[in-house]
Amino acid sequence: MEVVIAPPGELARLAADAVERLVRANPEAVLGLATGSSPLVVYDELVRRHKEGLSFARARAYMLDEYVGLAADHPERYRNVIEKEFASRVDLAPGAVQGPDGLAADLQAACAAYEASITDAGGVDLQILGIGTDGHIAFNEPGSSLASRTRIKTLTKQTREDNARFFGGSVDDVPRHCLTQGLATIMSARHLVLLASGRAKAEAVHQLVEGPISAMWPATIMQLHPHATVLVDDAAASRL
Ligand code: GLP
Repeated sequence: MEVVIAPPGELARLAADAVERLVRANPEAVLGLATGSSPLVVYDELVRRHKEGLSFARARAYMLDEYVGLAADHPERYRNVIEKEFASRVDLAPGAVQGPDGLAADLQAACAAYEASITDAGGVDLQILGIGTDGHIAFNEPGSSLASRTRIKTLTKQTREDNARFFGGSVDDVPRHCLTQGLATIMSARHLVLLASGRAKAEAVHQLVEGPISAMWPATIMQLHPHATVLVDDAAASRL
């Protein structure tokens, strides 16, 4: 695992460099997109590079996770967030971004279909990741099986409180369930690029880099990945 400690502005550039290298080498690359606030600076940087000629026209993208039950037009539905923050601002083709269907009548079938779709696409080349304060990646909360694939999960109180800021500060408005790629699904991506900034992430980053591999800190599974890059600012690195 490569750990890079850099000023906040530099983190986005380093992540965007990895994406740009990939897309230039393979215009049909499969990207893995994350939500949360950490990747937003990367999307901004990629949009800037798109304006300078970087094209995503032949690329495809898979999202990590989705809330269950949010209305199709809800602004915090992850599909809508990715559309607004990235897909609509670059030249990704219509339908190029896939995500788990949190509105499916049969959620388990939707999870299986999502796994099959990622496999059919040849797998994810580069997965962008954030990390929760409790060490979750995507929505794999503490206790998640290290061998998990896409499935339904219940969000922890901690994550719902952390994410309440996106729902007008109201924890009650944050959905209780989600669909998320599993830890084994994420580990199948060929390159993992995780970003973390701020002191609130320091313990999670400490566990990720220096802790024992444990389902109680799900991100620690990344220690087994052959190509994982962890980009952190000084505050997030303060416990290393
Ligand atoms: C959510 C997302 C995760 C993300 C995490 C951290 O729970 N499902 O993918 O990594 O939030 O978000 P942030 O970057 O806003 O701290």
